[in-house]
Amino acid sequence: MQIWGGHPLQGHVKISGAKNSALVLMAGALLCSEDCRIRNVPMLADVERMSQVLLALGVGVKRDGEVLDINAKDFATSKAPYELVTQLRASFFAIGSILARLGVAQMPLPGGCAIGARPVDLHVRGLQAMGAEVQIEHGICNAYVPGSNRRLKGAKIYLDSPSVGATETLMMAATLADGETLIENAAREPEVVDLANFCKSMGAKIQGAGTSTITIVGVEKLHSTDYTVIPDRIEAGTFLTAGAITRSDLLLSPVVPEHLLPVIAKLREMGVPIIEEGTNSLRIKPADALKAADIETLPHPGFPTDMQAPFMSLMAVADGDSLINETVFENRLRHASELNRLGADIRVKGNIAFIRGVPVLSGAPVIGSDLRAAAALVVAGLAASGLTTIKGLQFLDRGYDRLDLKLLSVGAKIKRVSEAETEADETAPYLAPK
Ligand code: UD1
Repeated sequence: MQIWGGHPLQGHVKISGAKNSALVLMAGALLCSEDCRIRNVPMLADVERMSQVLLALGVGVKRDGEVLDINAKDFATSKAPYELVTQLRASFFAIGSILARLGVAQMPLPGGCAIGARPVDLHVRGLQAMGAEVQIEHGICNAYVPGSNRRLKGAKIYLDSPSVGATETLMMAATLADGETLIENAAREPEVVDLANFCKSMGAKIQGAGTSTITIVGVEKLHSTDYTVIPDRIEAGTFLTAGAITRSDLLLSPVVPEHLLPVIAKLREMGVPIIEEGTNSLRIKPADALKAADIETLPHPGFPTDMQAPFMSLMAVADGDSLINETVFENRLRHASELNRLGADIRVKGNIAFIRGVPVLSGAPVIGSDLRAAAALVVAGLAASGLTTIKGLQFLDRGYDRLDLKLLSVGAKIKRVSEAETEADETAPYLAPK
């Protein structure tokens, strides 16, 4: 991706459906033996991969633009494909729905972005509490439900930490279990609520999603649904940081402003005017000056770890010293060194980044190390003077729906080029005579 930075953006950006909702709703569709229609599904490499996982399980998947039709009536394969699951963490969460439907599941341990150890012990312990026998051997999580009816049993589960994925896995497993399941210290993220609403639209009995205690009363069977995914709060937040760093006037919709409260509050603290227009739009206006601020990432409703990297780009050009404390993942500050290539002044010690604001960033070749790190480099590139060339687009394509085209439509000077073209551009300054 090549970006010629320093140009303000203007116009409307349509926010796509939430990646982390769409992926887990696709896993949730396995709970139902009738037609499930999911709307507002973003065009992402991860959605394509998740479709491949479902197809490999024998599930019918048909996509028409942003509408995805899933039918898991004849699904009988309990073994998920290694090559796909190891590339996509969310696909592991389907262990909950596969086990609930079939009483047996074989799931390779998950992959996804390398931002920390990312174990699955909370998922496993919760499933065991519901009566599953689980063994991890040779990198595969083998689970089965003993007994003649192979049905999971409702249980009281306390999560050591409010893991998003574990809450989702266990909520899906509990929808078809025998009796009541209580998940304490549950994650409160909007995507958890979206999954609960999706399951409820199919007849599941779930209460308390969005709070720390979720109660699920198992039912025998779920019925068909037609459901629309919530807007992607992280995509919206990324466009807000892009607007803030380029001093732009942008209108974003659809969004749920409530899902973005910590992000909006932090931007306002940094001096960026954000206006709520109607119930589902946000307008960002050019800031007079960007003020430094501190961030500690936390589970929802705290500041989201997925927004930490784009905010680091913004803080790199704010007036004064900012600090980021990444408390959710243990290896999620690798974008700092790439931002330094663009002229930022960032020091990292453990999980803390110290950011001294500089007046300007200058374009350079950089590499994204994970999804949000790559997004942070795009945000920084939009503000940097001259040409920034970003590699690692495979990460960006996992989680941003046509980011370059959306930025282009609001005036960014951005272009996707082949590897050969970027190499030519990188060597050009050295070869060119003075
Ligand atoms: C989800 C999101 C991801 C986001 C993260 C935190 C999806 C597909 N991904 O990831 O974008 O950054 O929430 O908001 O929805 N942990 C354990 N044991 C477990 C599970 C998690 O120790 O069994 C730890 C993790 O290593 C991490 C922390 O808990 O340090 C939070 O992880 P979790 O909330 O589970 O994140 P994901 O569901 O993987």
